[in-house]
Amino acid sequence: MNGLIPAPRNVVAGSGEVRLTARSQLYACTGTEGVGHWLRTVLREATGLPLREGRELDDTDGDGVGLRLDPELGPEEYRLVSDWSGVLVEGGNAAGVFWGAQTLRQFLGPDAYRRAPLGRDRIWAVPHVTIEDSPRFLWRGLMLDVARHFLPKDQVLRYLDLMAAHKLNVFHFHLTDDQGWRIEIERHPRLTEVGSWRARTKFGHRASPLWEEKPHGGYYTKDDIREIVAYAAERHITVVPEIDIPGHSQAAIAAYPELGNTDVIDTTSLTVWDTWGINKNVLAPTDNTLRFYEGVLEEVLELFPAEAAPFSAFVHIGGDECAKDQWKASATAQARLRELGLADEDALQSWFVRHFDNWLTARGRRLIGWDEILQGGLAPGAAVSSWRGYAGGITAARAGHDVVMCPEQQVYLDHRQDGGPDEPVPIGYVRTLEDVYRFEPVPRELTPEEARHVLGTQANVWTEVMEDHARVDYQTFPRLAAFAEVAWSRLPAPAERDFAEFERRMTVHYRVLDALGVGYRPPSGPRPWQRRPGVLGRPIEGAPPNV
Ligand code: ACM
Repeated sequence: MNGLIPAPRNVVAGSGEVRLTARSQLYACTGTEGVGHWLRTVLREATGLPLREGRELDDTDGDGVGLRLDPELGPEEYRLVSDWSGVLVEGGNAAGVFWGAQTLRQFLGPDAYRRAPLGRDRIWAVPHVTIEDSPRFLWRGLMLDVARHFLPKDQVLRYLDLMAAHKLNVFHFHLTDDQGWRIEIERHPRLTEVGSWRARTKFGHRASPLWEEKPHGGYYTKDDIREIVAYAAERHITVVPEIDIPGHSQAAIAAYPELGNTDVIDTTSLTVWDTWGINKNVLAPTDNTLRFYEGVLEEVLELFPAEAAPFSAFVHIGGDECAKDQWKASATAQARLRELGLADEDALQSWFVRHFDNWLTARGRRLIGWDEILQGGLAPGAAVSSWRGYAGGITAARAGHDVVMCPEQQVYLDHRQDGGPDEPVPIGYVRTLEDVYRFEPVPRELTPEEARHVLGTQANVWTEVMEDHARVDYQTFPRLAAFAEVAWSRLPAPAERDFAEFERRMTVHYRVLDALGVGYRPPSGPRPWQRRPGVLGRPIEGAPPNV
């Protein structure tokens, strides 16, 4: 209906319309002032209408907009009624009103997403309709890897707007990796002085012979992070920071060589990594490393306050793809292993993760990590991002841990979206718009009781082969629109989903993305400037990513 994406739960269409005009007022009742400010700002920009502040709901007077809390509705639930008295958006909380306001903007059409009016006479109308809507999942996430390629702050803010337009509410911010450290930490300034840039970058996937022979880097200052967290909160989005341990840490080791396994390699010779794959240079399991990262996390907790939004107690500690070669060869690591009475290096990794699990729990936080953290047992409050398929999530849910489903086989948006030869730097599985539309986050194997541990789902955007925001746009859209509908709407079983009907709504949604300036992949394939002829990807169907 009307190109609404994600599809609402219940829609009853009427026969007239509410026209917003220069007389129209907007009244935001107590508790919805923030949403009112957001809605007035975006609609003023796009329409040029003043949308003056009404003083009471009746001021909406047939051509205005009212926003109100309704305690009868659930969190994030909203009701939008457009009729002869105007448009009224009510929500169970401010987040619900905000998602309703997003729906209102969608009704106004693609030009309502522009930053300035087009200067033509036009009618801004919301059809008479009653919508009752609420999300299927509490956690509707997008992970952006700003470590492999830095995304400047304004682009991060833009992605928060794009998430909000799709009713996504968790931004997983992948801030550290072998190829870059992107967050200012005052007590360890070399993390950004040294760790935030590299001299050159592999162009293409690992096997590509090409190099981008220029420095690449960037980081967010503490005030940038505060701004991002606040901007997200205004859009009812939680930012979950990821600080990766004990693998994916070469940028940190390059900055502070004592963090590495100094009895195995000369860590002073390491630089921020300039190519891709699983890296053998991992953190040393020493007290010095623990204290260093406790210090990092103390500053991280200050920047990401637990009370900011529903999932903001979570801190992601990575925990994936930690190569054990150096720990096997390190006398220091082996001594630690014996001292702790551990069976092997896998147990040493669990010890590492459990240390920070306890440390975060003691500070009222919750640890979340990639599914490798399941090995060795976790504190009850810890949660798991299930990326190597569904299996980790199933194990975690059965063990009573909360799970975010983000299997690489389905929702890794770095993977190519078509099997044709024109896809830029194609990697991993072919996952089309339709494949993403047919993704089911809750595995059939789980009982209803176990399935309650599936907090929700997340699409992940790894940026090894995305050198700038245009490449990120291309990989992320339009598939994020299909993902948003999977995360928000109550769709039938995958085989029964009406993809043709979704595609019809997409014809309007492509115009919304155009108005927002998103460089998506057109249904007919990449535009000439979206191709990367001759740049090698990893066209091995079925192989794991990041390898
Ligand atoms: C991952 O893709 N290594 C979490």
